[in-house]
Amino acid sequence: MLIRCFTRMGSFFAAYGGRYNADMSKRLLEEIQAYVGFTARDAMNAQSLADLVRPQIPQIAERFYQVLLRDPAAKAVFTGGEAQIARQHSLLCQWLAGLFEGVYDRSYFDARFRIGATHVRVGLPQRYMLLGMEIIWEELARIMREAALPDLEEKLDSIHKLLMLDLTIMLESYQESYSEAVRGAEREALEAQLMHAEHLAEIGQLAASLAHEIKNPLAGISGAIQILAEDMPENDPHRRIIHEVLRQIDRLDSTVKDLLLYARPSRPSIREVKLDSLVQRVLTLLREEPALRKVRVEFSARDGEASFLADEGQMEQLLINLILNAAHASDEGGVIQVSVRRQDGGTRLKVSDTGHGMKPDVLAKALEPFFTTKARGTGLGLAICRRIVEAHGGTIRLESKVAQGTTVSMDFPFIPPQNAKRD
Ligand code: HEM
Ligand SMILES: Nc1ncnc2c1ncn2[C@@H]1O[C@H](COP(=O)(O)OP(=O)(O)OP(=O)(O)O)[C@@H](O)[C@H]1O
Ligand SMILES: [Mg+2]
Repeated sequence: MLIRCFTRMGSFFAAYGGRYNADMSKRLLEEIQAYVGFTARDAMNAQSLADLVRPQIPQIAERFYQVLLRDPAAKAVFTGGEAQIARQHSLLCQWLAGLFEGVYDRSYFDARFRIGATHVRVGLPQRYMLLGMEIIWEELARIMREAALPDLEEKLDSIHKLLMLDLTIMLESYQESYSEAVRGAEREALEAQLMHAEHLAEIGQLAASLAHEIKNPLAGISGAIQILAEDMPENDPHRRIIHEVLRQIDRLDSTVKDLLLYARPSRPSIREVKLDSLVQRVLTLLREEPALRKVRVEFSARDGEASFLADEGQMEQLLINLILNAAHASDEGGVIQVSVRRQDGGTRLKVSDTGHGMKPDVLAKALEPFFTTKARGTGLGLAICRRIVEAHGGTIRLESKVAQGTTVSMDFPFIPPQNAKRD
């Protein structure tokens, strides 16, 4: 009976979910009283039972523990052993006496709320509160029935309402403590996110200024070395060294370009991009890449869906990074699939491979700038992809299974054709 009534209270409290001050506890008490239907007459009825119940309080408390402690999990809540049980026993007796005093005001509410808070603190699972209250209800109802009271049904009803009132207030402490825990966890997550964002922004700025400092001297070195090389005879043995120096300068140069691309992304200039010519162009740009010799790159689109609106240069950069990653992860004979689909009004671009995949810890960090597992990687490839996708208002998602492969899915929102530039 008690429990059935209690479930009705659930929705009542769902609306509350908040912190309390003095005003709120008074208002809440009034609202619970109104909801349970607890009136001045019920208060009077409860008070009229005081003389009957008071002498039997120790017995009720005794019975309460007898039933409760049969359950090993309930017993385990009393980590302080017999001494704690004895303390709670006497506190329970006080609580029982308080039920029949006839005053159900704000301090009554606060005291009940504090009992609930103690239960939360000792880690008492909520369901034991229902069990506990059920035991109290059975005992009180038995005593009242045995006393052959006039107006028995009405008084039973009043006591039932009163127990509901107490149970509800005590359980309210749980909601308060859970909300506090959730708020705390959310706050921590947000702080961590902010620190992470600040850290990334700092790295980005540092990287951009460093890249600028490096760019010009690098161009100078490259130019000077090329002049030296021009003056060397065709068969000079040092030509090989010069060639190697230029190759390394090229690598440095492309790293610096990546850094700038990451730190200073440009606004996309939206045009119609055709998937087939995009992929062809990317493959041409990558034709010297050894990793691409061992794989096959396929692309697919449904009829009429092979073109989409985006910044062509940025899409090229995106596919270069993704196809290179996929090729690096693939063995001989691997297949890389590039596809576009209309999806919920927008466009989904996907690049999948059948390569070695990523372990969960790598997957979790792969999009972060400077995260790399490669000896010669900069760790900016995917971070740049993310920047590009986000600059288009889209989202990027990685899925990967070790030894099975990786899929990078990018969802771009619908862009109205009138926003696209025409050639
Ligand atoms: C109708 C249900 C219950 C009522 C009215 C009730 C009442 C109380 C009261 C009045 C206190 C003292 C609060 C304080 O000092 O702030 C208390 C504490 C406590 N209760 Fe309950 N209780 C109920 C159910 C239970 C159940 C079912 C368990 C265990 C299974 C339990 C375990 C405890 C424990 C461990 C303490 C802390 C005792 C201490 O170390 O001070 N209670 N309870
Ligand atoms: N398709 C893929 N399959 C398996 N692992 C991948 C794949 N794509 C990325 N990764 C993992 O994610 C890491 C980060 O990739 P990202 O492209 O950002 O940097 P990188 O490839 O290491 O260096 P670079 O800056 O030269 O691209 C890689 O080092 C690799 O471990
Ligand atoms: Mg990469």
